[in-house]
Amino acid sequence: MSNQLEKVKELIELREKSRLGGGQKRIDSQHQKGKYTARERIAMLLDESSFEEFDMFVQHRCVNFGIDKEHFLGDGVVTGYGTIGGRLVYVYAQDFTVFGGSLSETLALKICKVMDQAMKMGAPVIGLNDSGGARIQEGINALAGYAEIFQRNILASGVIPQISGIFGPCAGGAVYSPALTDFTIMTKGTSYMFLTGPKVVKTVTGEDVTQEQLGGASVHTAKSGVAHFAVDSEEEGIELIKKLLSFLPQNNMEETPPVLCEDAINRLEDSLNDIIPDNPNKPYDMYEVIGAIVDNGEFLDVQKNFAANIITGFARFNGISVGIVANQPKVLAGVLDINASRKGARFVRFCDAFNIPIVTLVDVPGFLPGTGQEYGAVILHGAKLLYAYGEATVPKITVTLRKSYGGAYCVMSSKHLRGDINYAWPTAEIAVMGPSGAIEVLFSKEVKEAEDPKALAAQKEDEYRKAFANPYNAARYGYIDDVIEPRNTRFRIIRALKQLATKKLTNPPKKHDNLPL
Ligand code: HXC
Repeated sequence: MSNQLEKVKELIELREKSRLGGGQKRIDSQHQKGKYTARERIAMLLDESSFEEFDMFVQHRCVNFGIDKEHFLGDGVVTGYGTIGGRLVYVYAQDFTVFGGSLSETLALKICKVMDQAMKMGAPVIGLNDSGGARIQEGINALAGYAEIFQRNILASGVIPQISGIFGPCAGGAVYSPALTDFTIMTKGTSYMFLTGPKVVKTVTGEDVTQEQLGGASVHTAKSGVAHFAVDSEEEGIELIKKLLSFLPQNNMEETPPVLCEDAINRLEDSLNDIIPDNPNKPYDMYEVIGAIVDNGEFLDVQKNFAANIITGFARFNGISVGIVANQPKVLAGVLDINASRKGARFVRFCDAFNIPIVTLVDVPGFLPGTGQEYGAVILHGAKLLYAYGEATVPKITVTLRKSYGGAYCVMSSKHLRGDINYAWPTAEIAVMGPSGAIEVLFSKEVKEAEDPKALAAQKEDEYRKAFANPYNAARYGYIDDVIEPRNTRFRIIRALKQLATKKLTNPPKKHDNLPL
């Protein structure tokens, strides 16, 4: 065999070795836990044969605690680029079979390299996390590595989409990288995120808690709002990442590529003319409205189980990707509270950063009153949503279906926050406050002293509803551009989006804003 052939053979062997990560035994153990390996995950994620790998031969440089006797080619993370649906993406997947995917100095350098490359090329980064956290033997170098990644997450924020899949442990400071990214997906039962694990919790607070209870997928998608999606399997998680990407542009200088729309743009939805119940206190399902108006009824629900009183997610109108924000009358009457404000604000800011028009569907009785909310700083959190809408320069279309009262009227993409097209259904009630609250303030004395207080309150509420609970007061001042027939909503939104396609609006130059955090 010639020298050259020998060398080619050696290369092939080294590649094979690198592809085995921590070895077959550990790969088997990973499978036994119901998890895929880093390479299997990347293979499922990217278009067939599109993966180009970087740094297969990187090895750690640590000499502490005898770790210098153990070396694995690639050092615990598989990195590179490829395509999804033909579009360029950068990817890293932590390899649990190598030192539990724990983060070393060199592993961090590999991740930083793909992130830097993604920024230069203006393409999304997808990180698949499955790691025991900082590699203990590396000491401060592991911490330095994390901080280098965080810095890149921060600079990439609002420039390229960043998506995190959590497919195993993600503990300690490691959680801050996903937290800095745009969307986090967790697998149920096999992934968890927490700053300090159950043992430390027990020592410090005395609390007995399992990993699942502390930071499982259901905790973070329903209680904390840290993660956006909980999935039953890694396959489902991977498919979700692909679907999510289809709604996003490559970077903040581009728009999402439109898809061919096979749903009639002038489709009339007669059901919408009769969806609002006669009783203003009776709910209906906002998902029915969304399903009726968007292309093919397809909606990607973001943070479905967190603050379900507000709905956020992606859909298309005539093939154009939009972000939808909608109050959900079925949950807490669609009231705005701390969590709904946080959820809505983050979503609106994401859409604005990435040139995705925002369609807002309003049916909101106001902000949730009470000490729980006030002590929890609902003023600041509500201001986040207000701020997000007010600073957004993307096309903003608002449709008020029913209630729009008080501060919530101002917040929900009103004309005054530079809403471009604000429609209302004839059932809209746009006023300072709801009828019962208004009568309580204006006529409490008269009602109390009346022969039949209930009857007088009802009569006054009726008068108030007739005078104020309609869209025409707002339309009279031009705060509503048009009152539309509900069944026509899809067509009117599509037309508005077309009109707004060339919208140009900029905010005053500044170093950065001071969003009320
Ligand atoms: C070095 C690690 C490691 C780590 C796991 N391993 N975590 N090596 N540093 N942090 C190694 C194990 O020694 C083992 O090696 C292999 O990975 C698999 O680990 P197991 O424990 O056998 O797996 P499992 O039973 O599934 O448990 C997974 C685990 C557990 C729950 C993640 O390994 C664990 O608790 N690890 C430590 C977690 C932790 O406290 N990390 C530090 C957080 S502090 P072999 O050779 O047997 O395969 C932190 C600070 C960051 O991250 C701050 C940034 C700002």
